[in-house]
Amino acid sequence: MNVLIVGSGAREHVLAWKIAQSTGVDNIFVAPGNAGTALVAENIDVSPIDFEALGSVAKERQVDLVVVGPEVPLSLGIVDYFDSLGFYTFGPTKAAAQIESSKVFARNLMHKYGIACPEGHIFSSHARALDYLQKQQMPVVIKADGLAAGKGTIIASSMSEADKALGDIMEARVFGAAGDRVIIDEYLRGVEVSLLAFIDGKTVVPMIPACDYKKVGDGDEGLNTGGMGSYSPPGFFSPDMVHEAVDAILLPAVKAMADAGICYKGVLYAGLMVVDGQVVVIEFNARFGDPETQVILPLLKTDLVEILTAVIRGDLDRVKIEWDKGACVGVVMASGGYPGRYETGFPVKGLQDVGRDALVFHAGTKRGKNGEIHTSGGRVLTVVSRGENLTEAREKVYRSAPLISFEGCHYRKDIALRETQ
Ligand code: AMP
Ligand code: GLY
Repeated sequence: MNVLIVGSGAREHVLAWKIAQSTGVDNIFVAPGNAGTALVAENIDVSPIDFEALGSVAKERQVDLVVVGPEVPLSLGIVDYFDSLGFYTFGPTKAAAQIESSKVFARNLMHKYGIACPEGHIFSSHARALDYLQKQQMPVVIKADGLAAGKGTIIASSMSEADKALGDIMEARVFGAAGDRVIIDEYLRGVEVSLLAFIDGKTVVPMIPACDYKKVGDGDEGLNTGGMGSYSPPGFFSPDMVHEAVDAILLPAVKAMADAGICYKGVLYAGLMVVDGQVVVIEFNARFGDPETQVILPLLKTDLVEILTAVIRGDLDRVKIEWDKGACVGVVMASGGYPGRYETGFPVKGLQDVGRDALVFHAGTKRGKNGEIHTSGGRVLTVVSRGENLTEAREKVYRSAPLISFEGCHYRKDIALRETQ
């Protein structure tokens, strides 16, 4: 079997690494990939949104399975495109991906099917939104409807911040059409957990839950990022809570889609917040999470390709999905200045010094002419360690990360700390 993975982050590297362990896989291609994916697969320099070029690659390389990582190609209909060419493609269709690409779509679905979510209102008029805003308590959460590269949710702690965020989204249109509508939410205080599940249109099989860390600094200080680390499984989210969330959130969401004539196949990711023991949906994503996938897939015992193809065929109920009893901690190493301005092109040193204690999944890395690996993005790589428990995994990951270095490199020191104190 030949597999094409679309994307270039650490999520796609861990997907390629895991798929390489599946029986019956001959060749793996990653478009466009990074220096890490090149270690387990062949990189193909094609953009994830150039569907025609990707289709040509899939035909030339006789690809049997296409796996899509990022949300943008999914929201643009990459799965519909590959389906039309007759390829086996893992991921939701454009219509199904609306659960991520439109927060208004997701919110309406949650209201209709009684899925717990924050108290919020949807607006398409700036004047009405402003009028409502002025009657709210601070902090307040303002969300652009569409995809905005993770920047579309603003937590405003003062009226002037809220006013500016609303103006930026709806008047200055900093996110373009993604800001045609907004949701203004009550601000909830709680602890967040990501619950991802494989879904074949009807059967929902949850993965082990994971937590990610979005703020750049220790203690959740500083700016939001694409994710600075993750761990799995969280002690505060028990297997019983997973089952309850499947029944109260994931199954109703799949049923809601089915009732709307949309067959949901792929990964559904529920971003949850536990507020005073109650589980509330903050967001849905239509894909594997990053950096959650880096700590989830190393704990998966079942052949991943077997699961992915069962999802596509619609017989996921026939696969027994098993997980390792241990735990994983992942630490993202980022370029100096990230998530603000940063420079790239610095050599990444020490990769060969990381032994059996850790796996290294690359994101913003490139291989230079002389074979050296250098930085090419904000989040450069995720270092992941497995252990019998989170304490052991954490010790290993923080022994391993300092072995790797590049100019300006920074990473959080407190990933999973709250679980091990
Ligand atoms: P979203 O874009 O909806 O995924 O939100 C991004 C992040 O903003 C979430 O992971 C939460 O940390 C935070 N957030 C979103 N909605 C709320 C809310 N209603 N209350 C508190 N925090 C929120
Ligand atoms: N970890 C957040 C995301 O994948 O969207």
